[in-house]
Amino acid sequence: MAEINLLSPGRIGDFDTKNRIVMAPMTRSRALPQGVPSDLAIEYYGQRASAGLIITEGIAPSAGGLGYARTPAIENAAQVAAWKKITDAVHAKGGRMFAQFMHVGRVGHASNRYTDEALVAPSAVRAAGQMWTDALGMQDLGMPRALETHEIPLVTEQYTTATRNAIAAGFDGVELHSASGYLPMQFLSSNTNQRTDHYGGPVQNRIRFVVEVLEAMSQAAGSPSKVGIKISPAMPFNDIDDANPLETYTTLVKAISPMGLAYLHVLRSAPLPDIFAILRPLFKGPFAAGGGFTRESGDATLNSGEADFIVFGKLFTSNPDLPVRFAQSAALVAPDPNTFYSPGAKGYTDFAVL
Ligand SMILES: Cc1cc2nc3c(=O)[nH]c(=O)nc-3n(C[C@H](O)[C@H](O)[C@H](O)COP(=O)(O)O)c2cc1C
Repeated sequence: MAEINLLSPGRIGDFDTKNRIVMAPMTRSRALPQGVPSDLAIEYYGQRASAGLIITEGIAPSAGGLGYARTPAIENAAQVAAWKKITDAVHAKGGRMFAQFMHVGRVGHASNRYTDEALVAPSAVRAAGQMWTDALGMQDLGMPRALETHEIPLVTEQYTTATRNAIAAGFDGVELHSASGYLPMQFLSSNTNQRTDHYGGPVQNRIRFVVEVLEAMSQAAGSPSKVGIKISPAMPFNDIDDANPLETYTTLVKAISPMGLAYLHVLRSAPLPDIFAILRPLFKGPFAAGGGFTRESGDATLNSGEADFIVFGKLFTSNPDLPVRFAQSAALVAPDPNTFYSPGAKGYTDFAVL
């Protein structure tokens, strides 16, 4: 059998990908007020269209899902119109693009949002830590309000609307951000989910929100093959902690495997370095592995059959044409963390394309 590497064509859902290289979802904090992506993002994503698949920065499905400064949403016509210009630019260059839905849950600050709604979470448990706000500098993370049981379907409905909007905006699919300590992971994890209704307690209850949201997104997208999910088992980011992550994530992955999703995207992190080998056999569809990959480790992971796609984050910030550079064995430019979240073109659209 021919060797599979990063430059081999692949398939996600109903379309072929020109390679096995996925651009990771990355918040870049360049959006305009009111959650509208700026025109700079047209150039930024267009420059990266040589990826087999681009996953956008985290996009709030609703205003209540916003947490960080200068981040976008996809709940209204102005936002949809701005995203349409971006997907058009990527498609014009032969790229494919999924929108990542990121509802922060408890991880946010009021001054970064254009709504007066309180932060919501499975339980009223405040996250330790601070975040940047343009108005007030560094601030403690806000205190969330626990969602009432009857409100949970309303949150799911926000993902439904966002999915319809994303399809209208020309996205090839949508990804549920269920990693990094945000709302879906807050339902999965025992320190943030202290509910006593059928969304809390035993693992079958804690996975319910994620499963219901994926079902709703699949219906709204017209097919589960247009819906992916990102998880980061045991990643402690944003003060999240689960008593038994292996049980939680094996149960979740077994539950969603038969759905026919576009892919399972797994970000590996320190406490569970072997997580790909554990989860890969449990999921029937395409498996996308991320977290600290290089060209060499990416090729090796694909060739061993441990994953179908490799997700690159930081390297795509400073190497917009990363797949072209891999193909030419060209030198890579080091990422610049100082401009990851700074406003404007510097460090965003000014890295050279070969
Ligand atoms: C600047 C920056 C912003 C990020 N924002 C997001 C995000 O919005 N959504 C998300 O799922 N992950 C986010 N991540 C995590 C990446 O998607 C990826 O999982 C991580 O960077 C590991 O891949 P890497 O080692 O190739 O960078 C971000 C990472 C970086 C560096």
